[in-house]
Amino acid sequence: MWMMVLVFLSDIFFVLLTVPTIVMASEKEIKEIYENGMNILEDLTNNVQEIQEQLLEEILKRNAGTEYLSRFFPNGQADNQSFKTNVPIITYEDIQPYIDRIANGETSSILLAYRIIQFLLSTGTSGGQPKLIPMTAESFEKRMSDLLLSDLVTRKCFSGSDEGKSLYLYFIKPEMETPSGLKASFFTTFYFKTESFKNGLAKFCTSPIDTILCLDNKQSMFCQLLTGLLQRDEVVRFGSTFASVLARTIKFLEDYWRELCSNIRTGYLSDWIIDPGCKNAMSLILTRPNRELANSIQQICEDKSWEGIIVKLWPKIKYIHCIITGSMSQYVSLLEFYGGGIPLVSPIYNSSESSFGINLKPLSKPFDVSYTFLPNTAYFEFLPVSKDGEGKAQETWTDDEPVDLANVKLGRYYEVVVTTLAGLYRYTVGDVLKVTGFYNKSPQFQFVERRNVVLSIDVDKTTEEDLSKAIMKAKLILEPLGIMLTTYSSYADTSLTPGRYVLFWELKMKGSNDLPKLDAKIMEQCCCMVEESFDFTYKSHRKGGAISALEVRVVKHGTFDELMDFYVSKGVSVAQYKPPSCLKSEEAVMILNSGMVGKFFSPKTMF
Ligand SMILES: *[C@@H]1O[C@H](CO)[C@@H](O)[C@H](O)[C@H]1NC(C)=O
Ligand SMILES: *[C@@H]1O[C@H](CO)[C@@H](O)[C@H](O)[C@H]1NC(C)=O
Repeated sequence: MWMMVLVFLSDIFFVLLTVPTIVMASEKEIKEIYENGMNILEDLTNNVQEIQEQLLEEILKRNAGTEYLSRFFPNGQADNQSFKTNVPIITYEDIQPYIDRIANGETSSILLAYRIIQFLLSTGTSGGQPKLIPMTAESFEKRMSDLLLSDLVTRKCFSGSDEGKSLYLYFIKPEMETPSGLKASFFTTFYFKTESFKNGLAKFCTSPIDTILCLDNKQSMFCQLLTGLLQRDEVVRFGSTFASVLARTIKFLEDYWRELCSNIRTGYLSDWIIDPGCKNAMSLILTRPNRELANSIQQICEDKSWEGIIVKLWPKIKYIHCIITGSMSQYVSLLEFYGGGIPLVSPIYNSSESSFGINLKPLSKPFDVSYTFLPNTAYFEFLPVSKDGEGKAQETWTDDEPVDLANVKLGRYYEVVVTTLAGLYRYTVGDVLKVTGFYNKSPQFQFVERRNVVLSIDVDKTTEEDLSKAIMKAKLILEPLGIMLTTYSSYADTSLTPGRYVLFWELKMKGSNDLPKLDAKIMEQCCCMVEESFDFTYKSHRKGGAISALEVRVVKHGTFDELMDFYVSKGVSVAQYKPPSCLKSEEAVMILNSGMVGKFFSPKTMF
């Protein structure tokens, strides 16, 4: 019985702990809240196996009768053993027919017993469509309690940071509506519209909620930075969901600091801010001219070097808070530079499919961050993944059976499989993880890589297959002109913000090695065709300005041979050489750049 309490305990804890109580709480009460949180964490991490078993039992009890699951339990026996032998390990494509039926109006009880409140959008499928992941009220609360626990751990680590405010740059995207009337949106878009955000976290934020809910990201960013600057002496935390957003924020500051200063100096909001919510919210904050503040900000921003600009502008900041592992690690050095060395805290490992674990050592260096899995979040299994000599996980599962959370081995690589309270059963998320240690009995994992993903700027995830399909389509534009695309490669260029995909194409005329005459219009069409072919997440982030226009660099015939020479000199065998679809080394990029004869971009705005 006690275990059952523990499985759902954090939900109760969540209700008790809606953050307004923290805002209002006395010092003694805050201490109690922390202690309760820490006790729950101890209980969860000490009873991993038991809690996981109970959770699976509960999921099966509720859902074994659904159309999806009942097929796998022909004699009605839905215990943990028949679950493991009968229920297949799947990817999104396998449940998509069920999701589509629900999205088109059939009852969600074909997949899960509890009512769906809406869908979460996730990275697209190769067909270009976004994935729709069911969310129930309960699964939302589970996510929230993980966020809350993670927040407690971080705040505990930075004592005194309770007093100030958070400059958190948050944005939403438009929702979609499925034919059934169920909405679909990114998790944050849903969350920022809830009462629990409004009455909780939002109270700590410098950004007024109306600026966060503004659909025009540029107006939203301007107003959020302006309020952050107006309250610069109160800000103790700087953050966002992802590091990529902070990179964009700094770029925006570079482009707009003069205008921001002039708004502060005159007390008038720029007239291109026309969103009624933003205007209204700003009218309550930007109430008078403040020359003094404008001058000090100007003085800081006029400095040639922007090293440490974040702490210079917000001197009380104790840490930067955002997810900075996985594909976000490409922003570590940028944030270290602009942050002037204040700690970067990567709080949590989550995705649209599930929450997984939290970072119990907020002060870990970004590349050392491990996440401790919380056993009441979902039922986890791990497919052993073999690794090559360089310690990098290979893209192959071994034949071994999946193992339970309590049985993973230190130092080994696994791909995580989840069974959730919200309709995913033995679902592979596509993330490869490495076991780095244990907290009590709960394993800690480092994120290693996204299976097959080669290009990523923000939360977009483009696989080798997506890239090759997109390039095939562009080839169709060139072929009638007698132009052959013989080889290609790519890399994610994040040296400028926002970053962009860069493709290298070696082009020649059919029947000779001559370089074709490059028609800028045609090449631009090719760039567009490639982008058109990418998935929903890419397109929506490109549209929102999080990703810059795609670039194609044409290299002259023979350039890719030099690339091969380079890899061979590094020990790759000629017989096994295949040009990488994505370049990870700067040297390789330089070699291809040296053969460049032209570069072309998609139009700035598309979609
Ligand atoms: C399956 O359930 C039985 C009985 O509840 C339990 O003893 C066993 O440890 C469970 N196995 C797993 C892998 O959860
Ligand atoms: C993941 O965690 C971050 C906290 O850094 C939160 O802002 C975000 O909304 C969460 N995303 C999902 C999909 O749960």
